[in-house]
Formats: sequence, structure tokens, C-alpha cells
Amino acid sequence: MRLRPRQKTFVERSVAALASRGNTLGVAPTGAGKTIMLSAVTGEMIGDGAKACVLAHRDELTAQNLRPTVDAIHAGGALAAIQIFPGVRLRRTFPAELSLKDIDALVAQYELAADLCARAGFDGIEPHGAHGFVLNQFFSPEQNARADEYGGTMENRMRLALRIVRAVRPICGEGMLLLYRHTPVGKGYGIEESLVLARALIREGVDILDLSPSSAERPGDRAAPFVGLGAPVIAVNNLDIVERALEVLNEGRADLVAVGRGLIADADWPLKVREGRFGEIVTCIKCDECFADLRKGGPVGCTQWA
Ligand SMILES: Cc1cc2nc3c(=O)[nH]c(=O)nc-3n(C[C@H](O)[C@H](O)[C@H](O)COP(=O)(O)O)c2cc1C
Ligand code: SF4
Repeated sequence: MRLRPRQKTFVERSVAALASRGNTLGVAPTGAGKTIMLSAVTGEMIGDGAKACVLAHRDELTAQNLRPTVDAIHAGGALAAIQIFPGVRLRRTFPAELSLKDIDALVAQYELAADLCARAGFDGIEPHGAHGFVLNQFFSPEQNARADEYGGTMENRMRLALRIVRAVRPICGEGMLLLYRHTPVGKGYGIEESLVLARALIREGVDILDLSPSSAERPGDRAAPFVGLGAPVIAVNNLDIVERALEVLNEGRADLVAVGRGLIADADWPLKVREGRFGEIVTCIKCDECFADLRKGGPVGCTQWA
């Protein structure tokens, strides 16, 4: 029988697990960077992408509302990072539709969201530049049809991402990590172009590169070219199989691994891994029903939950 409890959202369930069992979400090979990554939406242009996320765009709502979540994550012994992206409805022509004023507003919204997340006590923020979302659309020569300083050349297509990083870096200061998520091979660009972006991001002060491939090639392969550029590299995608994650780390294809669906299936994944209880892990069968829930606006459930 297929059980799909829906009384709690994924974030609520995960945070409850953290709080009650002293658990952590996310794992780093050294054990030093145990982190849960949440998603936040900045901006007033709220679209479908916003439904399953917390909002980080209004003072009165955000810093106070996020703090209990951060506290629960800290109480579980993990660090709390939050991804920030504009929850706009994506259209193929989106970059071209934005005026220069809109772009300035977008950067300002990132600044505001970063500030709110800093005040809520987060240990890290991550502008979302992957998966065909806005920053990725600007970077993609196929998706960015602009003829001004934000389109055309690589330098121009990187401009928005770098502006955002430059704007939020001082807010992060010394105490908050700045991550950046990017898809290494995307529409109209490949690893070489992504390496140029990665170097520029690091020059602007990005602490960790989070490389999320869009296809299911050998885990870690798309992250490997970025190792050694000057910032630790996270690999993600099907790395909840412990042996596979260890292989990626041991072969130096990444410095850190991130686990997504594996943590939805079993919020105790990091604890069980740390304690060597691999056989007790509730395995994610990659049915992607959680993605279907997300598309419907959540809350996210799992077919493997008992
Ligand atoms: C329910 C759900 C929500 C997700 N939300 C986000 C998100 O907000 N931002 C993001 O960059 N990736 C998001 N992802 C993608 C994951 O971060 C991860 O890259 C992807 O699931 C592949 O890793 P995995 O094989 O460990 O699941 C989401 C995945 C799932 C299943
Ligand atoms: S892919 Fe399926 S098994 Fe894995 S977390 Fe999502 S719903 Fe659960």
C-alpha cells in the first residue's frame, strides 16, 4: 500500500526530526559542514516557484518567522543555509522582458533577502543560479536574447550573477558563508564557460560552489573540473547511495556531497551514515513523486514513508 502522509511539509518534518533526534541534514566529509539547505523566495514577483518555499521579501514576515527554524536546525547540531531565488514564473524570454530598472530591483531584493536571512541567524546563503531559473537564464546564450550589457558576450551574461554576489557579499561578512548553485552544462553553454563563471564568482567572494547537473551522468563528473579553483565544490545527484558518495569524495571529484531526495526519504540519513548503520537507511527509489508534489505546490511527501 502507498502511504503519503501530508500533515507536515518537508521542511516542518525535517526540522522536527532535527530537533527531536539531534539529527543533521546534509553531510560533509570532514563532518564539519553539516548543513540543511532551505529555499527562500525574494521579490514581489511571486509565481509558481514560491509555493513550496519560505518567503524572504518582507521585513515583518521574515527574520522572526525564520528564526525558529534556524534555532531548531542549530539545536540538532547542524548549520543552516538558505537558497535565495526570485519566485517568478519562468518564460523562455524572461531575461529579455526585464528592464534595467527591473534588474536593479532584483539585485536590491537579493540584498534585502540576504539581510533578512542574516538577521534570522542563517550560517549561509546561496543565490540559485542553476536549473534554468533566472540567473541561469541570463547566463545561457540560448535563453538570453538581450542586446544590452546583460546579453551577448559571456561577460555580459555573467553580469547579473556577479552583481548579486557583489551585493550580498558584504552582508555575509565573516560569519555567513556565501554559496552559489550553478548547472555546469546547460542550454548553449558547457564546462569551459562555466569555469569562467566559477572563477569570476570566486574572485567576487563566493565561498562554496554548488554544482547541480541537469542530467544523470556519473555522479560527481560534472563537479570534478571545478575542484581546485579556490573554493570547495559540492556535488549532488543520486549521492544518497553511501558507497557512491564516498567514491566521489575519495576520488576527488568533489569536496562535499549534497543529498536531496535521500533526505526526504529518510531525514535520519546523516545520522545513520555517521553511525555506520547503512542497512537501516530508508532508500529513496527515485520515483520522483516528491517532485510531483512540489510541482503541485507541496507539501512534499514520500512514497517510502511508513
Ligand atoms: C522536493 C524537492 C525540492 C527541491 N527544491 C530545490 C530548490 O528549491 N532548489 C534547488 O536548487 N534544488 C531543489 N531540488 C533539487 C535538489 O536540491 C537536488 O539537486 C536534486 O534532488 C538531485 O539530488 P538528489 O539526487 O540527492 O535528490 C529539489 C528537489 C526536490 C526533490
Ligand atoms: S523520489 Fe520517491 S522515494 Fe525518493 S524521496 Fe521522492 S518520493 Fe521519496
